Amino acid sequence: MFSVIPTGKVLGATIEGLDVAQPLSDGDFAELLQALGRYGVLRFPDQHLEATALKRFSERFGEIQGSISGSSQHDRDVPEVGVLSNVVENGRYIGIPDAGQDWHTDMSYRDVMGFVNVLYGITIPRRNGRALGGTEFASMHAAYEGLPEEVKTRLRNATALHDFEKFWEHMRQDQASTRPALTDEQRRRRPPVAHPVFMTHPITGRTVLYANPGYTIRINELSERESDEMLEFLFAHQLQNTYRYLYTWTERDLLVWDHLGTIHRAIADYGPDESRLMKRCQVMATRIFDPAFVRGAGSAQVPA
Ligand code: SIN
Repeated sequence: MFSVIPTGKVLGATIEGLDVAQPLSDGDFAELLQALGRYGVLRFPDQHLEATALKRFSERFGEIQGSISGSSQHDRDVPEVGVLSNVVENGRYIGIPDAGQDWHTDMSYRDVMGFVNVLYGITIPRRNGRALGGTEFASMHAAYEGLPEEVKTRLRNATALHDFEKFWEHMRQDQASTRPALTDEQRRRRPPVAHPVFMTHPITGRTVLYANPGYTIRINELSERESDEMLEFLFAHQLQNTYRYLYTWTERDLLVWDHLGTIHRAIADYGPDESRLMKRCQVMATRIFDPAFVRGAGSAQVPA
């Protein structure tokens, strides 16, 4: 038994009374899925999680994505668990220091898109007692609903291209990231892919806007100029304050968010001496579009 306590804002709810390191019944998991669709971002406070437990819980939602940019930034024992951190040991970052530091949604650049991020806050930077390094979200249910009717009509059957390299190069060129340019082999393994601009959300059954400044490069059915103008409009529209929710971390929070109904960014408002350490599983939409999975979640049980 657990309680779902909504933030009362456009996104977000706290799940009280659930130890995610313990086995989760199918019924509880089905209820969590409904809460995830409805609130977009779920906070599970005061969790005590080893990497194995983080992986086990994450796998309930679908398959965990691997990395193409090297495996050194993953948990030593559990490679499905990524490490995000600005902590340096022996002259090297122990995790990815600048992951997600601008608006995007994970893995929209893949055929099978991202479904959820499961992010565990271990060390949270603080200055004068105030937590830094928050994660900000925008609701794509609300953004769709707020679109002018003529845009909804014009883009009803449109598709957009998403490109992994767009965000990667943006971080290198505009955010002074030290990440190297993608190799030809990495580029070959991540060609741009197309997805519908508007999508029926598999949990809520409502329409969401599925485009994001990080990866979306082109609306296929429009001319290049019209596509550029439309994307500029959509990116500005989806980031209006009224659709946004800033989440402030507390140590040992586990945060689970829905990539299909939100976009997000990590806030880089802390310095190199203010440590931030998180562990993450990026789960793909390998199961969520199966109505039986959403209805019962009985088939969600992953073999141990
Ligand atoms: C991410 O984009 O997955 C990282 C979010 C964060 O570190 O707050």
